[in-house]
Parts: sequence; C-alpha cells; structure tokens
Amino acid sequence: MKKYDFLVIGGGVAGLTYALKVAEYGSVAVLFKKGLTESSTAWAQGGVAAVSSKDDNYDLHIQDTLIAGAGLCHKDIVELVVNEGPDRVDELIQMGVSFDKEDGDYHLHKEGGHSRRRIYHFADHTGYEIQKILLMRAREHPKIEFLENTFAIDLITTQKLGLSESNQVLGAYVLFNNQEIQPVLADKILMATGGAGKIYLYTSNPDVATGDGIAMCYRAGVPVSNMEFFQFHPTCLYHPKAKNFLITEAMRGEGAKLTRINGEEFMKDHHELAELAPRDIVARAIDFEMKKHGEDYVLLDITHRESKFLKEHFPKIYETCLRYGIDLTKEPIPVVPAAHYCCGGVKCDEFGFTGIENLYVAGEVACTGLHGANRLASNSLLEGMVFGERAAKRSLESFNKDREFSEFKIPEWDIGTATDSDEQVVITQTWDEIRRFMWNYVGIVRTNKRLNRALSRVQFLQNEIDEYYWNFIVTTDLLELRNLCLVSELTIKSAMQRKESRGLHYTLDYPEVGDEVVDTILTYPKK
Ligand code: FAD
Ligand code: SIN
Repeated sequence: MKKYDFLVIGGGVAGLTYALKVAEYGSVAVLFKKGLTESSTAWAQGGVAAVSSKDDNYDLHIQDTLIAGAGLCHKDIVELVVNEGPDRVDELIQMGVSFDKEDGDYHLHKEGGHSRRRIYHFADHTGYEIQKILLMRAREHPKIEFLENTFAIDLITTQKLGLSESNQVLGAYVLFNNQEIQPVLADKILMATGGAGKIYLYTSNPDVATGDGIAMCYRAGVPVSNMEFFQFHPTCLYHPKAKNFLITEAMRGEGAKLTRINGEEFMKDHHELAELAPRDIVARAIDFEMKKHGEDYVLLDITHRESKFLKEHFPKIYETCLRYGIDLTKEPIPVVPAAHYCCGGVKCDEFGFTGIENLYVAGEVACTGLHGANRLASNSLLEGMVFGERAAKRSLESFNKDREFSEFKIPEWDIGTATDSDEQVVITQTWDEIRRFMWNYVGIVRTNKRLNRALSRVQFLQNEIDEYYWNFIVTTDLLELRNLCLVSELTIKSAMQRKESRGLHYTLDYPEVGDEVVDTILTYPKK
C-alpha cells in the first residue's frame, strides 16, 4: 500500500494550490487521471476575476456575484472569496504568472455580469499559463510526487469498513495505468477532480470532466448540493470537426455582437445589457432564437475591431478558427451554447471541509455557496485558489505526521470473480445514451415531463451499469460511465426538487422565481 501525508485527487488549479501549501509539512501525492495538462484549468480562456483597478472595489465585485447567483449565493462565502482574491492573484504573479499588461498596468478584461473590468488574463489562454506555472513550482518541490494516469475509484472510509460510528477518510482505491488497483492512504485528502460537463452531449469541458469526485464523495456519505444549476456557455465553436472549443466571453466584452444567420442582432430583445447580460440569459436567448427560427447556430461577429488587435488579444481563438477555415477578422464565427460549469457539487464549509474527518474539497467539484444559482464569469479559477488555500490551512491545523493505519486492516481491492469484458460497445452505447437524453431533457429549458423521462432512463441504466461493474474487471471507461450515470441522476433529482425557475434552472412548468430561497441538498443513501 502506498502512504503519503497528503493525497490530492486532481491536479488543476485547486489541487495544485493545496499541494504547494501543504508540501512544506509532509509528503504529497497528486493524482492526474490522464496527463498533467488535461484539466479545465488548462483550458480556461477568459481569466481570473479579482478587484484591482481604481474604479473597482470589493463591494462591486460582491454585488455582481450576488446578482448573477440569483439570490442563492451564500453572502459570507462571496465576501471571503472576493476579499481574499487579490492575495491569491498576487501569489500567482510571485510564482511567475505574467498576466497581460498595457502601459505598465494590468490589462483587465470585462465579461458578462461584471460591472467593471476586473479579469486578469494571459491573452486568451490564461488557464494554460496558470497550470504551467503551478506545475513548474510543484515539480520543483521535493515533497510533491505527480502520479499520472491514476484513476481514483472510491474513498476508503471507516464507515465503509464498518469500523466506527464517526466517519473518517483513510485513503482511496486507485487504478494505476488502467491495470492495477491499489489503496493509497493519507492523513488528509483533498478532492479536487473538477467538473462534470461530460454528462452532456455538447460541452466545453475536457474529457476528464466526468464528475468522479462528486460521485466518490456522495458514495462516501457527503451530501451534494445545487446540482440542478449547470451553466451553459453561450458561445462554443459550431463546426463538425471542432469537438468542444470555447470562444471566450471576453470577446463580447471587447464588442462582439451576436446575430442570427441572416445578420440580425437579437440580444437587445432579451436583456438591457444585451451581449453582456449574465451567461444564463445569453445562453437561453440563443437557444430561443435557434429553436424559433429552426437554425442550428448563431453568429458571433467581431469583424469591426482591427485585425491586429484581434490577433494580439485572441491569438489561440484566431489560430483555431483559422484551422477550421474561419477568419474571425473578416467573418463571423458560428457558435452554439454548450454545457460548461457545474455550479453544484460536494457540500462543504468555508474551509472546504466535507464533514467526513480529514476529507476536504476545492475547485469545481465543491459547492461552497459562492456561485448560488449561476456563476459569475471568471470566478471559478479564483474560487479554486481561495478554497485550495483555505483547505490547506485547515488541514494543517490537525495534521498528524505519525498517523498509523495498521489498526484499520484495510483490504486490498477485491476483484472476486470478475472477468475481462469483450463488450466495450455496451459502455460506449450507454455513455452516448446518457449524454444525449441529458442534453435533450435536462438542458437549458426543462419541463416536468422531460425530467421524469430522464429519471426513468437513468435509473434503468444505473441498474445495468451496477451489474456490469460487479461482473467485469473495471476499466477507466467503465468507472467514468458509473460516475457519469450517478452524477446525471443527482442532477435530474435536484432539478425535480426545484419547483421554480431561478438562475440556470429554467422550467416551463414553474417559470417564475419562488418565494423560498433554499439550496437543494441530496444525501446518501439515495432516496
Ligand atoms: P480541473 O482543472 O478540471 O482539474 C481536475 C483534475 O482532476 C485533473 O487533473 C484531472 O485529471 C483530475 N481528475 C479527475 N477525476 C479524477 C479521478 N477519478 N482520479 C484522479 N484524478 C482525477 N473559469 C474561470 O474562472 N475563468 C475562465 O476563463 C474559465 N474559462 C474556462 C474555459 C473552459 C474551456 C472551461 C472548460 C472552463 C473554464 N473555466 C473558467 C472554469 C474553470 O476552468 C474550472 O472551473 C476550474 O479550472 C476547475 O479547476 P479544478 O482544479 O477544480 O479542476
Ligand atoms: C470565458 O472565457 O468565456 C470563460 C470564462 C468562465 O467560464 O469563467
């Protein structure tokens, strides 16, 4: 059995921030499901929101976050994230992240829902720069070990072992290189596995975003909250060969207009802030226009800006579009909404503590109360850093360097009578089916009927997967499918519980905002 002082499941912005903070005190393993840069962090474009300019202040950033969150943000959490934001951004700068400057000052982007320019960025590939520098600093640290191609399957807890009344985490079963499963033990565990965009057919997310951490924590007994609030990004490239390429909202911040295929602008008909309305409104407006006119996409037009400006500010998007035959300096970009950000997740306190002793969460996997019913753009890299740091601080307060595990008699993974499966098609078919009905029935606009249909489908598939899971040797595909199915079920059940339309959750059966302001909470075992 492998043993570390700290086990960090996920090496994006949240996991790496935590790892760098705790490494001074003990050994750290960081698990990466695939490669080091396969994460949402590395794909982030727009940047990090934090107060810095003279015309901005904390109250404005707090206010903008609360408005986007449609009444469901936890104000104390919003305040602490906004207040601690500038320190975390300074740390990144100290580590070597060189955000763009103009005339000596930081060049700040503006995105939907922000009343001021406050987004630090590195051209249009901010996340890659942040991931690169964090990896570099972590790699330099002698106490941090990177474990690539390692898939955390499930947490090992005292309750699962039937050992104690109070629940504490001891480690995780981990699949190494899709071959061997071993328990990895640690005094403290941070779950930082990111989001779950892959539950939907169309998503801006990387392939690793299958909601594994949400599923693992839920199965270990941690409640999940607000899963009905899935954010759809309004503008992903529409092209038969582009799988999931985002066109940053910062482009609308620099004046890009949304039009129908015939060139007609429509955003003013939907919101006074037009292209810079909060993301849920823009995504819904696009969905509405596409359905009304039977069109497959809309257009994002920034051709009125100088070609030099566009190539300098949006180099990655410019090059990528060009590869698909679209010159954005001369012609509009075809775009569609796609699943982008999971506002719900594992419920935790203001230090990322889950309620299971020694288990913390940070980043997109967590539901901290910051985003409420809708996330303000560029608040999530910030949240990952703030909660990575806070979870590290709290972990260190009770850190036990001499922790022994022998008393727990932790069993090796039992493969029982499992055999190799030759039916890979079962996995791909089921995977495809889930993502398709999630898109059609649990997407931007919902109804009771659609949700009921989705629930009966997902429960049927859940039984099939459980049977498959126990009968055949596990692979990463099967493990992801099992998690994807559970996270879909949690999303559907949360959506069914909310009998109102609020923020990202919009249903034709209850189109108004209700009087009661409550989080949706689902506990394990399932009801
Ligand atoms: P991630 O960065 O996704 O990292 C997750 C890690 O967990 C990965 O290393 C993965 O391998 C690992 N992992 C997952 N499952 C397992 C498992 N079972 N076992 C082991 N390891 C596992 N937010 C902003 O604030 N600003 C932006 O400009 C912005 N732009 C975005 C653009 C795109 C295209 C996308 C997809 C998201 C964007 N976001 C943005 C959202 C933001 O990037 C993410 O919310 C944030 O990076 C999540 O960080 P994280 O550390 O929680 O997870
Ligand atoms: C974008 O650049 O549009 C994405 C920003 C975000 O998701 O926060």
